[in-house]
Amino acid sequence: MNYNKKTVKDIDVAGRKVLLRCDFNVPQDKTTGAITDDKRIVAALPTIRYLLEQKAAVIACSHLGKPKGEWKESLSLAPVAKRLSELLGSEVIFAKDIIGEDAKAKAAALQPGQIMLLENLRFDKREEKNDPEFAKELASMAEVYVSDAFGTVHRAHASTAGVAAYLPAVSGFLIGKELDIMGKALDDPKRPFVAVLGGAKVSDKINVINNLLEKADTIIIGGGMSYTFAKASGHTIGKSLLEEDKLDYAKDMMAKAQAKGVKFLLPCDNLCAEEFSKDAQPVAMGEDIPDNLMGMDIGPKTIEAFSAAVKGAGTVVWNGPMGVFEFPAFAEGTKAMAKALAESGAITIVGGGDSAAAVEQLGFADKMTHISTGGGASLEFLEGKELPGVACLLDK
Ligand code: 3PG
Repeated sequence: MNYNKKTVKDIDVAGRKVLLRCDFNVPQDKTTGAITDDKRIVAALPTIRYLLEQKAAVIACSHLGKPKGEWKESLSLAPVAKRLSELLGSEVIFAKDIIGEDAKAKAAALQPGQIMLLENLRFDKREEKNDPEFAKELASMAEVYVSDAFGTVHRAHASTAGVAAYLPAVSGFLIGKELDIMGKALDDPKRPFVAVLGGAKVSDKINVINNLLEKADTIIIGGGMSYTFAKASGHTIGKSLLEEDKLDYAKDMMAKAQAKGVKFLLPCDNLCAEEFSKDAQPVAMGEDIPDNLMGMDIGPKTIEAFSAAVKGAGTVVWNGPMGVFEFPAFAEGTKAMAKALAESGAITIVGGGDSAAAVEQLGFADKMTHISTGGGASLEFLEGKELPGVACLLDK
């Protein structure tokens, strides 16, 4: 996968109409519809500001939620247009449709230095089908395509990949930064390269482990998925999470790591509970967990061992919490890893989703080199998969 892609700085946008794909898929309050976290809108501002300063006429577009081709008022991008306009301190013209009369008239009248936002792309089922006609219609409103929607680069949709067949396609600053930092970490990492993988399921991380076994010097496994590995190494795991059908895979991975000389670290002690509850009493156990208990977090000796491995690293990639961090009594392991990364002096990259949320919630966000804005996208990036929303951009 080539990560060396042209950016907005490599193309003339002055006075031109630019179709800008953003990831404005923001969380909303279920009852009021209010945006509960505007981070993704804020993340798009540098590219938007640059384009407006360059006197481009910006036609922004995004999906929101999963309306599956149906027009749903609750998933309209109108609140996003309002928030974006507040953040920019200038008007954001909102189109009532996507490639309909309103959008086309507003796009045609759009002046250099102005921005408009199209309605939710997924209100049209042709978006997710990557329908060429739909992509062509979207492209027809603009002269240049800029993609800054890192969170959706793993989707081959009309607005994330299809439009690039009709317009010169470059990345915005957000995708540029994600590719620069994560691409370098995978292609030419500062060593030792340590991968810290957690989260509930082995099955979610199989392809990540496979890919990182080829690249990392050390792989650290924590969180719910560590118990399948623990059982595969002959330990008892009580009532802990287990993916029985992944036991052979876990054994294979550990054997492969050994053959390749990749250090593969599993928890050597655990914090357990009798039931999965926020009020459960933590019980400290070693490597073996008795029948009446389930593992909920890594223990203090493991924290020490994992932190030591991170301390000497040149690059650390972290994806997935070490325990049930949403329960304060079982957040210590995740907190300690965040702290270890923050103090490591290494290039630290936190994959999106739960680990990004944990780092933010625990107050270490500004201590990391990079927190990816993609959930599924950053996971597929770490899997080494070709990402359609990146592959479609012009090479440098
Ligand atoms: C995300 O929230 O991860 C992106 O916006 C992609 O959304 P999707 O999973 O609905 O394609």
